[in-house]
Amino acid sequence: MAKKTVADIDVKGKRVLMRVDFNVPLEDGKITDDRRIVQAMPTIKSVIERGGRLILMSHLGRPKGGPEAKYSLKPVAQRLAQLVNQCHAVPNPDGEGRNTTDLHITKDPAEATADTMAAVRFVENCVGPEVEKAANELRDGDVLLLENLRFHKGEEKNEPQFAQQLAKLGDVYVNDAFGTAHREHASTFGVPQLLQGKPRVIGFLIQKELKFLGDAITTPQRPFVAILGGAKVSDKINVIGQLLGKADLLLIGGAMAYTFFLGQNKQVGKSLVERDKVDLARELLGKAKGKIRLPIDNVISNEMTDTAKTSIVEGNIPADMEGFDIGPKTRELYKAEIAKAKTVVWNGPMGVFEKKPFAEGTRAVAHAVADATKNNGAVTIIGGGDSAAAVEQMHLAEAVSHVSTGGGASLEFLENGHFSTLDILD
Ligand code: 3PG
Ligand code: MG
Repeated sequence: MAKKTVADIDVKGKRVLMRVDFNVPLEDGKITDDRRIVQAMPTIKSVIERGGRLILMSHLGRPKGGPEAKYSLKPVAQRLAQLVNQCHAVPNPDGEGRNTTDLHITKDPAEATADTMAAVRFVENCVGPEVEKAANELRDGDVLLLENLRFHKGEEKNEPQFAQQLAKLGDVYVNDAFGTAHREHASTFGVPQLLQGKPRVIGFLIQKELKFLGDAITTPQRPFVAILGGAKVSDKINVIGQLLGKADLLLIGGAMAYTFFLGQNKQVGKSLVERDKVDLARELLGKAKGKIRLPIDNVISNEMTDTAKTSIVEGNIPADMEGFDIGPKTRELYKAEIAKAKTVVWNGPMGVFEKKPFAEGTRAVAHAVADATKNNGAVTIIGGGDSAAAVEQMHLAEAVSHVSTGGGASLEFLENGHFSTLDILD
């Protein structure tokens, strides 16, 4: 699926309406992980350096269709302003004010004056007269971030009227929101449909994500090892089915493994399982013809706490115990398989890695994936969500080939190989 990118279009003097996924984790109003903003910077930079008038739209969290202070994008606007002005750290050679072909930005945003900074503005709504005015007042190279799209019910419902109001804002449409590419919402689907006839392209982040995930499923170097974890089989059923046809081996961890155990008539004690998915799990094991590996030992406990007393058990889990991580023998087995891989796709942690007693499985896999990248020249891709957070936390994000910014989106791409929201773009 060859797609035009923002590099292929002229943006000078144009209002560039761009969907980004700035759905970042916040704690007490502070961004705890700004990766999704940082990853959108190449596209943002490209537009403002070429004199586009950038209008950014995003959702944050899952508000109920009206404004909620805790889901405001205001903290994101502040971080964005810093990043925009850092990445344009071009000293002003002649002391003149800002011009749009060469943004004269000081290195330290605190020292910058209004004249030397690319303006990053924020409006407290995403549609309406005030927003239209702000969009129309932008100068070349300016950035305007709109307030949370999901403060309007029309976003998730893709209501035509709401989409129309957003579409009004743009002369050009760019989608760089990979994390939201699996949602047919107004900003991702209705708006680009309405903007037919105008340039509608993807940004560099989506381009990069599609390249890594697309190559992995269409032309993987072999052996291709997929690692799937997390709590629920139901989240991953479709992707397991798809990957069975593509990968050479599937390594399973997380609570998901226990539903498979039930499919093998093993005892799982009090472990988290989905009883209504046992038949499906059994069916997948049948289809897998030995391609699926399940844990041979588990870390068990009677409580999921930071100070839990743990033991290791092979086979059946005792009635009063719960499995919370893969055990040491499984770690070694999985590490050995990952070491041989030339392509790795990993989605979902191996255990409750947020709790110290149950973090070893995820840690071992993360290091094995990083080692395969370095020692075996493997292409290694971390699906977003929890496994991305784990890799980030272990400071291994730079040691793998690609950490996706999409959780649900990367799974859906592995399942379907395309997105309807991107199919409609140029
Ligand atoms: C995500 O974080 O998965 C994306 O931003 C999409 O958010 P959503 O699952 O609330 O649609
Ligand atoms: Mg999600």
